[in-house]
Amino acid sequence: MEEQKIMRCIVTTGDGKFELRRLPIPSPGPNEILVKVEACAQNHTDWKSITLFKRPGNIMGSDFAGTVVALGSAIPSELRKVGQRVAGAVRGNINPNGAFAEFLVADPALVFTLPPDVPFEIAAQLGVSCYAACQALYQTLDLPTPLQPATTPEDILIWSGSSSMGQYTVQFAKLSGLRVISTASPRNFELVRSLGAEEVLDYADSKTPKKIFSATAGKLRLAVDCISDGMTPVQVSGSLSKAGGTVVTVLPYESKKKGVKTELILVYSMWGEDVEHPIQLKGNPQHYENATMYNSMISEMLAKNMLKFGAIKVFPNGLASVQDGMEYMMSGKIHAEKIIYKISDTPDVF
Ligand SMILES: NC(=O)c1ccc[n+]([C@@H]2O[C@H](COP(=O)([O-])OP(=O)(O)OC[C@H]3O[C@@H](n4cnc5c(N)ncnc54)[C@H](OP(=O)(O)O)[C@@H]3O)[C@@H](O)[C@H]2O)c1
Repeated sequence: MEEQKIMRCIVTTGDGKFELRRLPIPSPGPNEILVKVEACAQNHTDWKSITLFKRPGNIMGSDFAGTVVALGSAIPSELRKVGQRVAGAVRGNINPNGAFAEFLVADPALVFTLPPDVPFEIAAQLGVSCYAACQALYQTLDLPTPLQPATTPEDILIWSGSSSMGQYTVQFAKLSGLRVISTASPRNFELVRSLGAEEVLDYADSKTPKKIFSATAGKLRLAVDCISDGMTPVQVSGSLSKAGGTVVTVLPYESKKKGVKTELILVYSMWGEDVEHPIQLKGNPQHYENATMYNSMISEMLAKNMLKFGAIKVFPNGLASVQDGMEYMMSGKIHAEKIIYKISDTPDVF
């Protein structure tokens, strides 16, 4: 059979839009692996990046799951093998290499090893959400990890336990030995409890910050704000102790409450290199080291069946459905689900 040289992928056109195109399959550098993507998942950064960062020719998408099909010349065989099932995230949208494609190149230390029984369309949701959760809890708040959980459970607020990032942050925090208080809409209370939250409150109820304050005896010092938008800066700060505390944010903001420090996480920083978008950030090699550690930990947790996967919504036409998926997400329809595209669903006409 003739070797495939061209792939289908979703490419930015530089005017905030994108199109399905055919491009050459990327060649892995000496320290990269080539992955045949089986499924990819959509994140908010996919639409935000391309509207804020108008550069043509970048393949879109961060989250993927697939199979290793080639190894760069410098990759030791004990690190990765051809045929291995993997998942993770790349810097699509702001770089030429993206996840909404038939193939991508990745850092072999920044892909999770997938157990055989986890379907690709389920595993595609893990990358951004898991790395964001780990950056928040372990990189920023320096909390114990599931590998060595805390022996005394400290309280932590995970605002929005039903969001994609929130579902994993709640799980990691619980497995790390913390006592988790979270928020969601009432229809998702049971879901967030099942992930490990002790108490779940309605984010739309104006009394929720007061209730959280009482439920934590006015001593709450730690929070992760998985929304960081609208009223949440006030709500999260209002839940913390009178002395304040630390809030990890996913979008930049300062708290107006005295004593409350906010710390932004950015998944794009995990490669340890300078970040140009969405904010300029000097590369920190420690962030790369941390990410490789989270990567091993998550691979181990997957092997031990320690993580519950979120619900998925598979759009029917693979890469040809990305336009519909973007519209669905931008119109605020996402409720405790991840949009997934299976590459094999892309019709042959494209
Ligand atoms: N900085 C980073 O590196 C980074 C990484 C990941 C994500 N993010 C950002 O984090 C945000 C969330 O991303 P995501 O993919 O996790 O979100 P998502 O899954 O699309 O979020 C949807 C969920 O948010 C919940 N929600 C909506 N408004 C809320 C509010 N005011 N308070 C609490 N929950 C609320 C809804 O809960 P119900 O269904 O229960 O109503 C819904 O299920 C996005 O802005 C994204 O860009 C940033």
